[in-house]
Amino acid sequence: MYLFEKIKKVNCECIIKALLEIFLDTANIDEMKHILKWGIIDGVTTNQKIFLNEKGVDFKTRIKEICNLMGNKPVSVESNGKTVSEIVNDARDFTKIAKNVVAKVPMTKDGQGLEALHILSNEGIKTNVTVMMNFNQLMLATKAGATYVSLFYNRAKDSGENAVKIVREITDWIEHNNYDTKLIVGSIRKPDDVYEAVAAGAHIMTIPYKILIQMPFHPKTEDTIEEFDKAWKEFISNK
Ligand code: E4P
Repeated sequence: MYLFEKIKKVNCECIIKALLEIFLDTANIDEMKHILKWGIIDGVTTNQKIFLNEKGVDFKTRIKEICNLMGNKPVSVESNGKTVSEIVNDARDFTKIAKNVVAKVPMTKDGQGLEALHILSNEGIKTNVTVMMNFNQLMLATKAGATYVSLFYNRAKDSGENAVKIVREITDWIEHNNYDTKLIVGSIRKPDDVYEAVAAGAHIMTIPYKILIQMPFHPKTEDTIEEFDKAWKEFISNK
């Protein structure tokens, strides 16, 4: 009985550990260095808008810097291509920069993103299919062999989608069908988005620095720490 209980416990811990990863949604080195010290970061995601905040840096130099900083943790780098050949060429080019680069592939309406994804998947290149807003897009990308599929949580909500329901249903579908694909939930605008998406079963959250640094704070925690500080000062003054 003891051994069975132990195996079950280890399995549960493995499953729990495997189920939630946190990526930092940034291309800023200082932000990464700060949060890496917390010991909670499992990867990085970037996109063209994120790089706009790093205007003036050399793109490939910065990607190399990020990959070196992250060690073997995945770093998603987005293709600017719209056709199969453009997307595939970008992915092959970017993944040559470092071994931990993951090729971000856009979900194009004409299916060229899916075609490029399938080629890259067959070449063993890790992919993160991105800019997706609903279950069908996420399901197709998973079927086509994506390593990661990214739901744009708040942009999906902006367009009238029930993002929490999508997280719950796509993760159930992925796990029920034993796909290795992991759901990344991005487009995070407030700490509660993280709570909602993780509670719905998200495998990975990619969180902007300005949101992540808000997350340790709670007003009641601050009040209680202050109360305990006062109590301690009173205790040691009564010696
Ligand atoms: C992550 O990979 C996405 O590119 C990012 O979270 C999108 O966020 P946004 O909707 O705020 O642009």
